[in-house]
Amino acid sequence: MITLGIETSCDETAAAVMCGAAIRASTVSSSVHRHEQFGGIIPEIASRYHLSFIVGVTKTALEQAGTTLSQIDLIAVTQRPGLLGSLLVGVSFAKALSYALRKPLIAVNHIKAHLFSPFLACRRMPFPFIGLVVSGGHTSLALVRDFDRIRFLGKTRDDAAGESFDKVAKMLGLPYPGGPVIDRLAQTVASSPFNFHCAPLKDSFDFSFSGIKTQVLYTLQALPNISAPVQTEISYAFQKAVVDSLVEKSIGACRRYKVRRLAVGGGVACNSALRRRLQERCAGEKINLHLPPAAYCVDNAAMIAFLGYHLFRRGKRADLYLNALPTGESGND
Ligand code: KG4
Ligand code: ZN
Repeated sequence: MITLGIETSCDETAAAVMCGAAIRASTVSSSVHRHEQFGGIIPEIASRYHLSFIVGVTKTALEQAGTTLSQIDLIAVTQRPGLLGSLLVGVSFAKALSYALRKPLIAVNHIKAHLFSPFLACRRMPFPFIGLVVSGGHTSLALVRDFDRIRFLGKTRDDAAGESFDKVAKMLGLPYPGGPVIDRLAQTVASSPFNFHCAPLKDSFDFSFSGIKTQVLYTLQALPNISAPVQTEISYAFQKAVVDSLVEKSIGACRRYKVRRLAVGGGVACNSALRRRLQERCAGEKINLHLPPAAYCVDNAAMIAFLGYHLFRRGKRADLYLNALPTGESGND
C-alpha cells in the first residue's frame, strides 16, 4: 500500500511517500528565508509559497520514491492545527488528488503526527510512551497508548518553547529563527552569571515560557548595551531554564504514569542541550529515550503519511467535506 503525505500547516511545504510502513521519500521546501526580514512567520507569504511549491514538492517526492500518482493508494493530509491559509492549500490539494485519483483521503492532526516522528523507521510501535512535542507553535505533553489513543496531559499556557527561543533571540539582536542561533552560542560557554527560570506550575503538566521572556527583557533593560559576551551568557542561561522545564515535566509524566519510554519531536528537539540533558536524565531514570534525526524533528510530511497510514488501518476515513482547522491541538480526530 502506497501513502502520499502532504504537510502545509506552517512555513514548510512537504510531501512524502510511504510504502507499507516504510518511508520511501520525504521532500521539504521551506519559506523560512522569506520571513527572516520580518522576524517571524507572515501567514500570507507562507500560504502563497505553498501554492507555488506544492506541485513541485509532490512531484519530487514521487520521483524519489520511484512511483507515480496512479500507484498511490491513500492520501494523508495535515488538517489541523496551523495557519488557516497554509492548511487550506494542503487540504484543497489533497482533496483534489483524492477526487481525481478516486483514492481514499485521511486527515491528520499535526501535533499528534509530531509525537510519532521518532518512530518512522520502527516496524513495531513500542506503546505506551510519553510524547513531548516542542516546536515554534506548540509545546505539548501526551500519554500515547496507540495511534488513536492519545491523551494530552499538558500544554503551554502562553508561548511555545520555540517561540520563546525566537523572541528572546530577537531581544538579543540575533537573527530569525532564534533557536539554532541560541543553541550555537550557548555551546561556546560552560556557565553564565545570569540566572533565569520558567514558572514551575506545580502539580500540572502545563508549561509557561512567557515569564522567562520578561525576565530576559528586564535584565537587558538594566544593562548599558548588549555586547557579544552578554548575548552568549543570556543565551546559555535562557536555554538552560527552558531545557530544565521541558525535561523535568517529561520525566515527571513518565514517573506519574509509570511509563518507561519517552519520545520527543518538533523543531526544538534539535536543540543540543535538550538532547544531552534528556539522555542524561533518562539514563538515570532507566527510561528509553526516542529522539528523531533533525530532518524529522522539524515539519515534514513523512510523519503525516506515517500516522495517516496507521489511522487508515484502524478504520479512519475523511471525505471531500474535509476542511482546514486552525486550532485543535488536543482535539480528538
Ligand atoms: O517544528 P518546527 O520546524 O515548526 C513548527 O511547527 O513550529 O519548529 C521550528 C522552531 C523554531 O521556533 C526554531 O527556533 C526552533 O524550532 N528550533 C530550535 C532549534 N532548531 C529549531 N530551538 C532550539 N534549538 C534548536 N537547535
Ligand atoms: Zn510542527
